[in-house]
Amino acid sequence: MKLGVIGGSGLSHFEELEVMSREIVRTPYGEPSAPVVHGKINGTEFCFIPRHGAGHRLPPHRINYRANIWAMKEIGVEAVIALATVGGITKGPETLITPDQVIDYTWGREHTFFDGLNGNVTHADFTSPFCDELRQRLIDAARGAGLDIVETGTYAATQGPRLESAAEIRRLEQDGNDIVGMTVMPEAGLARELGLCYAAIATVVNWAAGKSDEEITQSVIDRHLGKGLADYMAVLSALNA
Ligand code: HPA
Repeated sequence: MKLGVIGGSGLSHFEELEVMSREIVRTPYGEPSAPVVHGKINGTEFCFIPRHGAGHRLPPHRINYRANIWAMKEIGVEAVIALATVGGITKGPETLITPDQVIDYTWGREHTFFDGLNGNVTHADFTSPFCDELRQRLIDAARGAGLDIVETGTYAATQGPRLESAAEIRRLEQDGNDIVGMTVMPEAGLARELGLCYAAIATVVNWAAGKSDEEITQSVIDRHLGKGLADYMAVLSALNA
C-alpha cells in the first residue's frame, strides 16, 4: 500500500526522510503546498507533502487542501497519514493520540470536490471519518516503538490562525472534543471524497485555552514539540508499507 504523509508544524525539514526525488504535481485545483517528496524512512517509502509549505508560510486557512489531497491521489497514494500538532482539552501535553472522530468548526475553506459544477452531487459517508485499518497500523507501530498512544478521541477542527478563547474551549469540551487543531478538516473529508484511506496521528503541544494557568506562547509549544516530532518519527520508522 503506497503511503502518503501530510506533515504539520515543525516538519518542513524532515531530517529522517531519505529524499529520493521531488515531484511538482499540477492539479485542477492549483498547486499543492510544495512539491511532493518521494523518500524513505527506515526503508519504507513515503510520499510527503509539508502542509504549511516550504518555510512554513501557509496558515491553516490558506492551505490548498484540495490540491494536496488531489496530488496524493494522482501519484497513486492509497493511504494518507496526517501528522497534526494539537492543543489538549482532555489530554495533556506530549500525549500521542489517533483520533477516531472529528467535529468541523472551520468555515470558508474550499472543502469539497463535489461542488456541483460538473453536475455531480455526491454525499460521501463520513460516519467514521478516519480509516480504522490505518489507525490500527499507527497504533501497532507506536506500541512496537514502545510509545504510549491514546487509541480514540474526538478532534475539534477550528479555523485559526488565532488560538481559542477559554469559553470556546469549554464549549468544545461540552461538545465532546478531546483535542483541538486547525488542519484535519477539510483534509479528512476531501480524502474520503476521493476514496483515500486517511488517519491522523496527533501530538498535544499545549493545554488548550483555559485548561492551565499558562499563557500559550511559542515557547510553551516548542517545549513539547520536540517530543511530538520524535514520536512521529518513531511511529513512521516502525511502519511497514
Ligand atoms: N488550538 C488549536 N490548534 C492548536 C492548538 C490549540 O491550542 N495547539 C496546537 N494547534
